[in-house]
Parts: sequence; C-alpha cells; structure tokens
Amino acid sequence: MAIDERFLDELNARCDIVDIVSRYVALKKSGSNYFGLCPFHNEKTASFSVAPDKQIFYCFGCGAGGGPIRFIMNIEGLEFQDAVRFLAKQYNMTVPETEGNPEERHRREHILQALKEAARFFYAQLHSPAGAQALAYFQGRRLSKKTMNNFGLGYAPDSFHALMDAMTAKGFSKEILEKAGLLARSPNGTYYDKFRNRVMFPIIDIRGDVIGFGGRVMDDSKPKYLNSPETQVFNKRRNLFAMNMAKRTKKEYFLLAEGYMDVIALHQAGFDSAVASLGTALTEEQARLLSRYTKTVIVCYDADTAGQTASQRAIDILKKAGLRVKILKIPGAKDPDEFIKTKGPDAFHKLIERSDNDIRYRIESVREKYDFTEDDQRILFLKEAAEIIAALETQVERDVYTTSTAKLAGVTPEAFAQEVRRAQLRQGKKARQQMHREVRAPIQAAQPKDRGIHFDNMKSARAEQGILALLFSDASLMEDMRRQLKPQDFSSPELGKMYGYASALYNTGRNITVAAMEPMLEPAELELLVAAIQTQIPADTRHKAMEDYIRVIQEQNVSANPADPGEDPLLRKAQLQRKSKGFDTGE
Ligand code: UTP
Ligand code: MN
Repeated sequence: MAIDERFLDELNARCDIVDIVSRYVALKKSGSNYFGLCPFHNEKTASFSVAPDKQIFYCFGCGAGGGPIRFIMNIEGLEFQDAVRFLAKQYNMTVPETEGNPEERHRREHILQALKEAARFFYAQLHSPAGAQALAYFQGRRLSKKTMNNFGLGYAPDSFHALMDAMTAKGFSKEILEKAGLLARSPNGTYYDKFRNRVMFPIIDIRGDVIGFGGRVMDDSKPKYLNSPETQVFNKRRNLFAMNMAKRTKKEYFLLAEGYMDVIALHQAGFDSAVASLGTALTEEQARLLSRYTKTVIVCYDADTAGQTASQRAIDILKKAGLRVKILKIPGAKDPDEFIKTKGPDAFHKLIERSDNDIRYRIESVREKYDFTEDDQRILFLKEAAEIIAALETQVERDVYTTSTAKLAGVTPEAFAQEVRRAQLRQGKKARQQMHREVRAPIQAAQPKDRGIHFDNMKSARAEQGILALLFSDASLMEDMRRQLKPQDFSSPELGKMYGYASALYNTGRNITVAAMEPMLEPAELELLVAAIQTQIPADTRHKAMEDYIRVIQEQNVSANPADPGEDPLLRKAQLQRKSKGFDTGE
C-alpha cells in the first residue's frame, strides 16, 4: 500500500529535521549545520551532521543518511509506513488509510488502547499494597527497580474481576477486553480476568504498542507461564519479546534466549540486545525480523537437552534468513538468568567472546554439499574450505582449522596447508588491488560504504554525483541539464535512477528534495544520494560546473562503450551527442 504522495509532501514540509534528531542526539550548531555523536555507530568525535536547509542528516563516519522519515526508520527500527505514522502522530496529522476497512482499524486501535491501559493497571498494582508479594518476588529474582520499570513489569491481582472492574470503569466494553485477550469467558457466558495472581510481563512490539502479556506464577504451580492468546494485534510468530528495546542496541550481535526472565536478566546485566521468542519455537518471521537489525545472532538457549535441540532448529531458521549464527553453551547453570546470577555479567561476556564462531559450522555446511566418495568432489570441498580458512585473522586459528579440515577430508595437514596458503596469497592480492583503487579515488567522491553499490567508472561517478549536488542546490538547472544529459548516460545505474526521479519530480512541479525521493530509494541508495549532495557548489560557478560534469560523463560514456571495430570513434561520439540533444526525461 502506498501512502499518498501529497500527504508525504505535507508531512515532510511540517517536519523539522533538527527538531526530530535533537530528541535523540545532542546537537551543536556549527556554521549552517548541526553536529553530534552518531546514534548509528559508536564514536567519540562528532561526525554526524544535520543540514536544516536540505532537511537531511548524514554521518561522515558510517555513511548513514537521509531525511526525517529515514531517520525515524533507522532510530526506531520501523518500516517506512510505520515511520510515517510515527511522525504524523507527532505532528497531529492523520495518515490517509487505504487498507483494511475502517471498522476493523478502529477496533484494532481500541484493543491497543485497552492493552496499554491494562499494562498501566498491572504496573500500579505491583506498587500497591496488594502487590507486595509480587514485588518481593521480583526483588528475590534480583531485579532492580529500574529494570522493573524499563520492562513495565506488573502484577495481576488475585481476583476474577479486578482488571475487568477497573477497565470497564474507564469505558472499555467486556467484548473489547475479551478481544484483547484480557478476559476469558466461562461456559455459561460470564467474563472473568484471564490473568490472576501472576507477575506480569508486557509484550511490546517494535512500534512501542503493548500487544499482549506473559504472566508467571510466584510458586511452583502450573502452568508456570500463561500467555495472551493470539488476537487481532498479537501475532506470536511475528514478534519477539524485548525487541522494542533490543532494536536500539549498538551491539553488532543479538542474543536469542528462551525465556522472559533470561532476557530481563541479560538486559539488566548490560546485554541490551537480548530477545526471546514468545513461548514457542523460533519462527521464520522472527528470524527475518532479527535480520533487519543485525547480521549475527548468538543463540543462548537453556543448557538442557530440550534447549539444545531447540538451538539446532533455531540455527537452521536463522541461517535461512541470512544470519550468521553463534552458539553459546552455558556451563554450570540451567539458563542465562541463573548463570548471570551466580557467575556475574563479566563471566557471561567471556562466554560471548568464546562462543563458537561459526567457522566450524561453515565448514560443516560446505562439507554437506560434496560427496566424499568422489575424489574430485573432495578436492572441490578442500578448495572451498581453504578460502574460508585463509580469511581467518590469526595463524593459530588457521592452523587449528587446517588440521581439522584436512582430517575431515582424509588428506595430510601439510598438503592442505599449502592450499590454504595459496588461497591466502590470492586473497591478499585482491585486497591490495582494492586498496590501490581506493587510494587512487579522490576522497571528495562519496564512497558508498560497503552497502552493495559499486562504481564501475569512478571519474564519471564523481561527475554524476556533482550533477545531483547541483540539482539539489538549484532545481532550475534541470531545464538545461536534461536537454544534454539523460539517465542512461550515467555510468552508475543508481545515480542515473536518482537523476531520472529528480526529473520526474520537476515535471510534476514538486520540489527536488531528499524527502520527496526517499520513498523510491533503497537505504544504500539514499545514503549515496545524501553523501553526494554534501558537496557545496557556489552559486556563481554552478553553470560552469554543470557543463564540466556533463562533458566528463559523456566522454566517459563514449570510452566505456567503445565503437564497433571499423567505426569511426569521432563519428560515434557525435552520434551519442546527437541522441542526447533534445531529450526529455519526463515520463
Ligand atoms: P522456562 O521455564 O525456561 O522459563 O521457559 P524461564 O524464563 O527460565 O522461567 P523462570 O526462570 O523459571 O521464571 C522458557 C519460556 O517458555 C515459555 C515462556 O516464554 C518462558 O519464558 N513458557 C514456559 C510458557 O509459555 N509457558 C510455560 O508454562 C512455561
Ligand atoms: Mn529461568
């Protein structure tokens, strides 16, 4: 579902990037821009900039960049549409909805409202005289006041109607409370509180809405945990406990635990990227959700056999989502919560550092591709494994895996070590060539930071970025520009596409801004654009700069598409120029 363009323009017009960013980052003014510490990577010097004139942010350190919506997407971990809703709410605007019938949407809002109120009620109960035992329970489990508050922990009183009474007094109907999973109904039709005499764990989704609860008994009775049923707003397969907090982590890995208490104990001990699946086995949807925030997941399930079997399943699902997986074995304790309680956070950190890196795992997976009864297949395996091992950082590591892999394939370690060395040489050469290229490329040109965009022709790409920088400073250049230059002339398809979009915006009378283009670009493209338009070109030299850029792009274009043998290169160049004259990029 696309959100209406006009609405987006209006929202972007109302948004003030400085305002929005300063809610998360302390900014200092310097010249016409603002600077602060980048919230998207760890740094000590401020390389994060906000430009109010262009309404963009850009980090010179990590390359993150975009407009207000992208900032909210990144910092709140939201999808585009949710980020739009998030911002619209702050500016008291209503997003025109085109999806779902109005009645259903209204009910959904109502259920979320009820769940939020219920969380408030449980929280208040925990801190009332009725909650004394529950509070003592949490304290007995070593939770600090701050942790309890961060997680919004609560208590459901020992009553069949305490919540029902409090909520109906606030105007919620019993039907809605049942739809929210808070009330159950007996066979004769009477409603009653589902959660009674339990400590309560609210489940909050990445948007910050309470979508359900887990409730634990305070003794050994069964069931130990009671969870909200699936409702219109609570989909267990798609959510992870504590994801609302973990999504803000700066750690490069996420921890995946089994239980509520494990996650809470981990956060309290400083491991703020811990999440848990909700009382069920990990699902593909949850793995995909994780993959939006991290590349590496460390599985730290319970030490018992059930936990280990579940780990194996989780590994497969996580890998399928493209994640790197590490396994953490917890010695001498039943789960992470207990381990931290007895051995402390530092000991847990050591476990993480030592967690089985996935090298062995990767070699195993490569091994599965080949049939070792065939000699040539074994050789292919060894070649592929050698590439993996050659990339390891230390000689010790390389030796360890060289020996074990040689054994696996039934060859001598010495022979295989030679193969590894050859792979190392190859990789070293590649790295040196890469470095050469980077050194030769002038630093002013924006380098897409390892996000999958490559420039085939650096010289042309630099001019192409200049063209965009010009357009974003002065859209009136468009008329002149597109008579001479078309998107296909660009050596970089990404930059060419942006140029095409700019032209389309111009045609429809919209402003050429990052905000207007944002919905059409991939994150990496957006970052490239923002980096490109950092270049300031003084007003009086713009026309000249434009002519220069166009000339470079066209020259490079000709040399990149050499003429047919026998064809006169000059002729071909003239042809190309003719073709581009009078071109109109408007579609
Ligand atoms: P555990 O029994 O390992 O939970 O179940 P835990 O978090 O270590 O519990 P404590 O430490 O005894 O408080 C792992 C997870 O499985 C789900 C819950 O999500 C729990 O956190 N579970 C467990 C249920 O949903 N229902 C149950 O009856 C038990
Ligand atoms: Mn436990």
